[in-house]
Amino acid sequence: MAVRDDGDGTVAVPAGQRIDARSAGGGDEDGDGWWPEAEPFKIKVIEPIRRTTRAERERLIVRAGYNLFALDSDAVYIDLLTDSGTAAMSDSQWAGLMVGDEAYAGSRSFHRLREAVASVMGFPFVIPTHQGRAAENVLFSTLVQPGDVVPNNMHFDTTQAHVEHRGAEARNLAGPWAYDPVADLPFKGDIDLELLERTLAGRKSRRNPGGVSVPLVLITVTCNSGGGQPVSMANLRAASDICRRYKVPLFLDAARFAENAWFIKLREPGYAEKSVRDIVREMFSYADGCTMSGKKDCLVNIGGFIGLRSRRLYERASVWAVLFEGFLTYGGLAGRDMEAMARGLEEVVDEDYLAYRVGQVAYLGRRLKEAGVPIIEPVGGHAVYLDARRFLPDMPRELFPAQALAVELYIEGGVRGVEVGAVLAGRDPKTGKNRFPELEMVRLAVPRRVYTRQHLDVVVETCRRVLARRDKIKGLAFTKEPPVLRHFTARFERVG
Ligand code: F0G
Repeated sequence: MAVRDDGDGTVAVPAGQRIDARSAGGGDEDGDGWWPEAEPFKIKVIEPIRRTTRAERERLIVRAGYNLFALDSDAVYIDLLTDSGTAAMSDSQWAGLMVGDEAYAGSRSFHRLREAVASVMGFPFVIPTHQGRAAENVLFSTLVQPGDVVPNNMHFDTTQAHVEHRGAEARNLAGPWAYDPVADLPFKGDIDLELLERTLAGRKSRRNPGGVSVPLVLITVTCNSGGGQPVSMANLRAASDICRRYKVPLFLDAARFAENAWFIKLREPGYAEKSVRDIVREMFSYADGCTMSGKKDCLVNIGGFIGLRSRRLYERASVWAVLFEGFLTYGGLAGRDMEAMARGLEEVVDEDYLAYRVGQVAYLGRRLKEAGVPIIEPVGGHAVYLDARRFLPDMPRELFPAQALAVELYIEGGVRGVEVGAVLAGRDPKTGKNRFPELEMVRLAVPRRVYTRQHLDVVVETCRRVLARRDKIKGLAFTKEPPVLRHFTARFERVG
């Protein structure tokens, strides 16, 4: 395909036409080719960060059992562990914390959230939850039964764990392109439509009583476990057609919906002139509902929700929501949190913001590539993923090269990323064997509106230095391995 994003802000689309990402963002309004590439905000509040010495970090990482989750954030210089709940809120959101009302039933802030979800996403029914996985818990408790199959382009780890917790199978249907770390394609998050069709055709029905039940289909936008890659509008539309044909509801795991919409604007023919708001509305028009982690694209530190189109499903899910999350108009949140989420939803579709946000991640990717650091390409919306198999080609998978690499980045520069590889993948529940996913990565997730370009330059230099001494890096073995979501609390020792 002739579509290419150079990471320099320009994109070639199949027709040979070039879209300037910056003017697409509304930046270069006078058309003179110059657009100030700096943050579309100024910094009004700061949080000091502490520098540590290398000796201190060596000591701390041993004490943490080589698990970066076990480090205090005070011991981290640049924290790229996650883009979840780490955003800097705007002055308007902070002001919203005072405006938010605290009520058990019928809070004004709940109505503000409901209106924002209806306006941005088009869903009339909203169930607030304390975060994204709580939305999954409520929705899956409503819809998923033991023995079911839940297709997704790629499940995020908590999503997969929640499907499996219900005794169902979480089936990833991303196409082979999603597993190729260097395939230069615009929408590597796309679900494989043939696989989806085949899965739904084989589902349980009156005519096929021996098939498995498929209670819902999920599509994750952007596809976090696949490198933060976007899903195209064409793919969403086609997947929705298939789901409607088989009468299976389609849900979006919408944690990073706005970043996905921005990529559609940049890369998909026919969308350059459309506003992100319109693109977002179209994306959600193909879905029956969504689960949302507000900790990403609502630009808040806590919160989530389920968005729904059907009153019947809303009523069924409400029962579980009350059991797990509290009353329907607060869902495990304070009123002020819902107010901040409502304001964040409006802010995140701002095109200057998105040009800056996705542009910042692209900058990190471009600089790393220039330094010879192997990364997954093209770069996704919220993170740059280091390709640990190419970074440490001689280390056996059994020694968890991505975890080992993440440890070295911390020791070298106080930079904390996260392993997205065999440690995260866990063991197959049936065979008990380690799963070795195609991709063995370290994710460097960029918090929203938090770090400057200079911070990112430090990250690049850290990676470059680790690359220069890669031959001396040792692998890891478990000393403690918890049975579920092991990556959070495991402990390791150095081996090899
Ligand atoms: N779905 C996706 C695609 C996610 O990336 C996450 C969280 C969730 C659901 C769950 O949301 O954390 O609010 O419960 N991802 C975070 C991350 C944790 O670091 O990628 P949550």
